[in-house]
Amino acid sequence: MLKSNFKNKFGMFIHWGLYSLVEKHEQALARYDMSCEEYEKLAEIFNPVKYDPEKWVLLAKKCGMKYICFTAKHHDGFCMWDTKQTDYNIMNTPYGKDTLKMLADACEKHGMLLSVYYSNPDWHHKYGYNPESTHQWKAKYPDVCDTEKYREFVKAQVRELLTGYGKIYSFFWDIPPKIEDASLNALVRELQPGIIINDRGWSEGDFSTPERRSADSEGKHYEYMTEACNSVGQQSWGYRRGEDFFSKRFLCCSINKYMALGASYLLNVGPDANGEISGKYEKKLLSVGDWYNRTEGCLEGGAEDDRNYSVEGNKYFTSKKNGKTYLHFYDGLVSDAIVMRNFPCLPKKVRLLNSGKELSFTAEYLPEMFTGNADSINGRSLHIIGFDSDDYADEPIIAEIEWAE
Ligand code: GLC
Repeated sequence: MLKSNFKNKFGMFIHWGLYSLVEKHEQALARYDMSCEEYEKLAEIFNPVKYDPEKWVLLAKKCGMKYICFTAKHHDGFCMWDTKQTDYNIMNTPYGKDTLKMLADACEKHGMLLSVYYSNPDWHHKYGYNPESTHQWKAKYPDVCDTEKYREFVKAQVRELLTGYGKIYSFFWDIPPKIEDASLNALVRELQPGIIINDRGWSEGDFSTPERRSADSEGKHYEYMTEACNSVGQQSWGYRRGEDFFSKRFLCCSINKYMALGASYLLNVGPDANGEISGKYEKKLLSVGDWYNRTEGCLEGGAEDDRNYSVEGNKYFTSKKNGKTYLHFYDGLVSDAIVMRNFPCLPKKVRLLNSGKELSFTAEYLPEMFTGNADSINGRSLHIIGFDSDDYADEPIIAEIEWAE
């Protein structure tokens, strides 16, 4: 679907469930070949006594995030809410409280939007096996297939999720079931008018979900609603002890590339089995958030900049918002200055968003721009100086230009 009144946002993805006790991966059951019985026993000890969703919400806010997408049910089939459709849920653990409800309340209190992640594969449900789909490796009953029955179960759960937890901003199906049934998305829309749905469900959704990649687009703004996602760690979406954390530079560049072109971005964290986002997980989020906040919202709701100019020798994307041009040097800058050719007019003001500093500029002849043609001596470039590039080697550099006309 084309963008209409959609405004892209930065959000927090949260993968949290029984797997946080294993401390390896959200699909530990399959990827570490645990037995279903052994895995199910985790429900008997899951007791995240430090869970305080208000802390999560305030952390997300502090990082400039506008929504939280929460794994209500991952492939293991364990439900993080008080579902009446299966006993395999958070109420039947020593903790015994509806974790989703607590998060929904905290989001409402602080004006944070809430999105729901729901896995189509279900390794616990009797009829969760679906030969059409991928990610069925650990289904407990791989020979029992009754898609009709499973679909009714999914619908009943969707109904619970979309009626009991207030306003839901978006619905994140995971792993396309490869069975076409438009009635599921129709149900989602009926229960939550205005919701947006991703493209991993039972029929075409509203937005696409590039995952774990950096945008390889040519710098063209997205025409289709898009939400990219990646985790702060390279090996897992769920909590992992000894995770290989991505560098701040890698994460910020990825966020900048997608968001400058109009996509939303979900940055994932895996809270631990106590219910906390702490240690390196929290530190990484805060360092990304520190950069993100200095972008002053220019990555949200920007559009394609149709002005005619080019910047020499650097990798960049452009966007415009409120009449201003934004130059996103997602790969750093090769020097402390930039040289623009074919600039539309002189700027009124140029700022380096990384520090907020105002930059000086002149339209001048630059000797290294000499093309071998003596006439080009008169060709002036817009020379913007004073970028302090080395101070921002670990983050994308963004310049804001206010033009004189
Ligand atoms: C991948 C992973 C899955 C995770 C998802 C998030 O599909 O396999 O475990 O939940 O990405 O988008």
